[in-house]
Amino acid sequence: MVLRSDSIENDADALKKFRKLRFNLNLGETMVVCKDAKLGIQFEHTQYRREKVIMTSVFSETAPLIFNYAEQIKKDFVIDKELYESHHVNIGLRDIHGNGVLTGLTEISEIVSYVQDGDQKIHCDGQLYYRGINVKDIVQGTINDNRFGFEETVYLLLFGKLPTKDQLQEFENLLSVYRNLPTSFVRDIILKAPSKDMMNTLARSVLTLFSYDDCASNTSISNVLRQCLQLIALFPLLAVYGYQAYRHYEHGDSLFIHQPDSNLSTAENILMTLRPDKKYSELEALILDLALIVHAEHGGGNNSTFTCRVVTTSGTDTYSSIAAALGSLKGPKHGGANIKVVEMFEDIKTHINDWQDEDEIVDYLNRLLAGEVFDKQKLIYGMGHAIYSVSDPRAHVLKGFVEQLAKEKNMYKEYQLYEKIERLAPEVITKKRRIYKGVSANVDFYSGFVYHMLGLPKELYTPIFAIARIPGWSAHRLEELINVGKIIRPAYLNVSQRNDYKPLNKR
Ligand SMILES: CC(C)(COP(=O)(O)OP(=O)(O)OC[C@H]1O[C@@H](n2cnc3c(N)ncnc32)[C@H](O)[C@@H]1OP(=O)(O)O)[C@@H](O)C(=O)NCCC(=O)NCCS
Repeated sequence: MVLRSDSIENDADALKKFRKLRFNLNLGETMVVCKDAKLGIQFEHTQYRREKVIMTSVFSETAPLIFNYAEQIKKDFVIDKELYESHHVNIGLRDIHGNGVLTGLTEISEIVSYVQDGDQKIHCDGQLYYRGINVKDIVQGTINDNRFGFEETVYLLLFGKLPTKDQLQEFENLLSVYRNLPTSFVRDIILKAPSKDMMNTLARSVLTLFSYDDCASNTSISNVLRQCLQLIALFPLLAVYGYQAYRHYEHGDSLFIHQPDSNLSTAENILMTLRPDKKYSELEALILDLALIVHAEHGGGNNSTFTCRVVTTSGTDTYSSIAAALGSLKGPKHGGANIKVVEMFEDIKTHINDWQDEDEIVDYLNRLLAGEVFDKQKLIYGMGHAIYSVSDPRAHVLKGFVEQLAKEKNMYKEYQLYEKIERLAPEVITKKRRIYKGVSANVDFYSGFVYHMLGLPKELYTPIFAIARIPGWSAHRLEELINVGKIIRPAYLNVSQRNDYKPLNKR
């Protein structure tokens, strides 16, 4: 079947297929000739000459030649592991004991995973401090007052002190003023080319906002602070609207673009704009708020924050450095782990007959590490951390209300399975990997489960992490701009041989 753009206007079925094809290919107006094997159709745009550009249905198809190139470089690019040792390379910017190489100073947050006893490091329960205040106390403080605490956390991270009541009110007003997208942004940018990956939507939206900003490249502190506050305020809208567009165009759901409410907290606005009927319970919003607080900041060395700092040091604009951080957070070893955990559990539940049988669970975990099951990446998601050893305090906070929520949501059996794996996985990993310091459940182990119980869609799990973490990135960008000014530029030693250039006819 061939569809021509000038002939489909009156054919509802063809139009529907055309829209789906356009969406699948994500090519917008520039598409010229496309085939879609799955839909069994071919689309031709008559404004262009066919021979000029030909795109097959599968934009992402790998030509056979590329497989050959890939096989070749997989062999040729391997660098002898021993060279890393003999040249004392700090792989992953770690020393030989697995500790991060010191690359900067910060006053924004502190992660504690051991106590020093003379020459000895004694691993302890992890602690996390935002501007010197234990995050558990921040969480407890907001629980005690039965109020939302994310906005106060953002204030603390950005300005170094807890706000007074008036300061908090003033700051929340400022955020709600900035929770306003430029005119037509939703129509022209978010609805026009939806993506099935909301982290991709977020990053593209952030980069596009550059062109709406008259002072986009200005790196003065006041301008950067304005941009950061604007992005902090807008992230929930960009993520949720991107999701609504995706549901509408990809799954045929009705399209809802609810306006944010200036009287609501960030957590409430996320839930309100997400739900077709705008309804959510207070408990749901409070739990989401707590999740946002514990994800808000995690030192300068975590992958996305370090990325933000690296990119900042080149002197580039706020949109570029935040988009780069988003690209890092998306990865499954970082923020993307929360989706992976839930998917891994879906796989576990289908492959384990008896959820009580610990031998069967251990066997599955071993197969995960061997790369035989699930995504074959040899990882148990939600386990391990670059710094924490005995425990991750964020996982501890989340676990604090998971059990009760699981009971309420009739998911206690799942909760028990999570608990078993939380206990068994560290033993399995320790036997199979070189662990310097111990391994335990990290923040992502329970966060996805919490979001699942709150009825949040999987596509928004990592964006919620991003909504929470952009205050941390912002604080680090500002700290870097105010203090250092030196471009980050580590070294890579060349270990290849020199070669002579051979003319083409002599190769
Ligand atoms: C977070 C993570 C990347 C930290 O890795 P790291 O900084 O190398 O941590 P460690 O130094 O303790 O790891 C020691 C070894 O154990 C491995 N390891 C740690 N956690 C693991 C896990 N969950 N599954 C499999 N292997 C793991 C590491 O890959 C490393 O092996 P290597 O030396 O061959 O690279 C790692 O734990 C991981 O990939 N976890 C799963 C993904 C995840 O949950 N990420 C969210 C983090 S908040």
